[in-house]
Amino acid sequence: MNRKTILCSILLNSMILAAGAESATTLTIQTDEPSKVISPDLFGIFFEDISYAADGGLYAELIQNRSFEYSPNDNKRWNSLTCWDLVQRGGAKGSVEVQDNAPLNANNPHYAVLSFESGAGEVGLQNIGFDGIVLKQGEKYDFSLFAKQLAGTPGSLQVRLESKTGELLGEATLPPLKSGWQKYSITIQASNSADSARLVLLSRQKGKVALDMVSLFPQKTFHNRPNGLRADLAQVIADIHPKFMRFPGGCLTHGDGLDNIYHWKNTIGPVEQRKAQRNTWRYHQTTGLGYFEYFQFCEDIGAKPVPVVAAGVCCQNSGHYIPGSIKGPQGLPMDQMPSYIQEVLDLIEYANGPASSVWGSKRAAAGHPQPFHLEYLGVGNEDAITPAFRERFKLIYDAVKAKHPEITVIGTVGPFPTGRDFDEGWKVANELSVPIVDEHYYMPPQWFLSNFQRYDHYDRSHSKVYIGEYAAHDDRRRPTLRSAITEAAYMTQLERNGDVVHMASYAPLLAKEGHINWSPDLIYFNNTRVALTINYYVQQLFATNSGDTWLPVTMGENTGLVCSAVRDRRTGSLILKIVNPGATPVSYKIAGIKEGGKSATKYLLTGDPMAVNELSTPQPLIPTKSIISISSEMDAPPCSLTVIRIGS
Ligand code: AHR
Repeated sequence: MNRKTILCSILLNSMILAAGAESATTLTIQTDEPSKVISPDLFGIFFEDISYAADGGLYAELIQNRSFEYSPNDNKRWNSLTCWDLVQRGGAKGSVEVQDNAPLNANNPHYAVLSFESGAGEVGLQNIGFDGIVLKQGEKYDFSLFAKQLAGTPGSLQVRLESKTGELLGEATLPPLKSGWQKYSITIQASNSADSARLVLLSRQKGKVALDMVSLFPQKTFHNRPNGLRADLAQVIADIHPKFMRFPGGCLTHGDGLDNIYHWKNTIGPVEQRKAQRNTWRYHQTTGLGYFEYFQFCEDIGAKPVPVVAAGVCCQNSGHYIPGSIKGPQGLPMDQMPSYIQEVLDLIEYANGPASSVWGSKRAAAGHPQPFHLEYLGVGNEDAITPAFRERFKLIYDAVKAKHPEITVIGTVGPFPTGRDFDEGWKVANELSVPIVDEHYYMPPQWFLSNFQRYDHYDRSHSKVYIGEYAAHDDRRRPTLRSAITEAAYMTQLERNGDVVHMASYAPLLAKEGHINWSPDLIYFNNTRVALTINYYVQQLFATNSGDTWLPVTMGENTGLVCSAVRDRRTGSLILKIVNPGATPVSYKIAGIKEGGKSATKYLLTGDPMAVNELSTPQPLIPTKSIISISSEMDAPPCSLTVIRIGS
């Protein structure tokens, strides 16, 4: 056994066997020893549009397939009219078809043509939203669409919000349509609440109308932003108080095939001009939640933006869904690299350039003349380290470094914590002196315990680490208390090694009931409710109790506890985290601090190791808060995280 293995097995044995020491162990915070300055950006979040995290999730749009761009490429069962139904009322007969000649614009080629053919009554279209439309009594909803009269007498379209059973919940009438594409907007107030409402558009005149970009937004979005975010979901994300937010993915960034790489420029500007695209997780991205909205959300929640761009290569797992497509990793043709590199440089100008610059002016036009203060840029997402990757990564990296030395580039070292891509990725990082590399690992809880000293041995002269995606995957991939406590134990090592681990984010962040591509996730939700996993509370406790200086803690041997102490020099607070991953309680006392006689705030997360907070959990497990005296003896219950905050 080497030294690392011996230390690990001592730690594991101590966790499993030694808990329950008869007398209280003393946790001595070494305030006199030289402290270690650690990353101020350690704990953040990772957002990816996976499991309906964006469309149907955080993005507050209520109409699904609003621009008739769904296709079998997105999902084999879909077409341009998915989620839409023809409505024929009062004996009227009509039809609907999808056309693409003379569209609203080239990025948005499909639109619906509604024909009122015969009879009296009404012909129209109905949209079921994302598993139904949620309306709240008395609240206002902004409706808009683009339309043109193609044939027949110009008439007015009636816009109705109806319950599943047809009860009217709000309505408005648009002015007579013109013969060219025009936007029509109107506000509707909901007369009643409903979880499964529909939007119904009705025409009373014979003729043909073209319809596109049919949209319905609650006015109450997060921070009341137009084209904004679902307020309750955005708020629970904000409540984590993440230091940064990585976006837009994940595999979504480097895409399923070269034609599926995420291009940020397609996602800005008026929503009807953005280019929707297939989501690698087998659905559709409207890109309504695009780069402007990501930057704005980061600013709204006080998180540094960490955009990730593809390293000029697509995902190594490409080509398994679309028949006939090329399988495996590929690089953009080299003659396309100059324009791709320019796209990356333009992103930096979009975020930080003056409002007078080409791309800064587009940010200003969207309502944000001030820069977004971009500091970090991820290049690549857990790519296979192929010759194509090496060549393209270096080109992008060199160009960013030359033009924007102020930007910290984050490289990538493959999808796993060890192995060929990991080793080769680190070689690339060392050769190029990449400032930070992105490590990913989804592993069983036991792995996190056995690797409790992973970063103690990292060479401090090499790149720093961003653990961009990690999670303890428990039995049947459930977000149990056991997995959360394991993550907490591991996160104490991230603080201890906060001089080399610069950032870390649990992944994925969001998952919608009925549309889950990946499990576990940090937050589960449906249209009306949100479930915060126990792992969420661990992330929140660490992010809201982070520090900028790490202090050593000594304790008796084989206590079974894992500890970390940090000081937040901004507030002067001293924060101690105590994790007991074992099955028996451990008594402890705190020593070594001048605040000894003072009171402190204690947060405790504990319970049944197999507890899970799900949407159906009647009493979710949450941290308890109490005021304690530092001098008293305390218990770390089995399977627990305790955070003790001394000072403000
Ligand atoms: O977080 C889910 C997926 O896991 C990400 O898209 C990808 O980067 C990783 O494999």
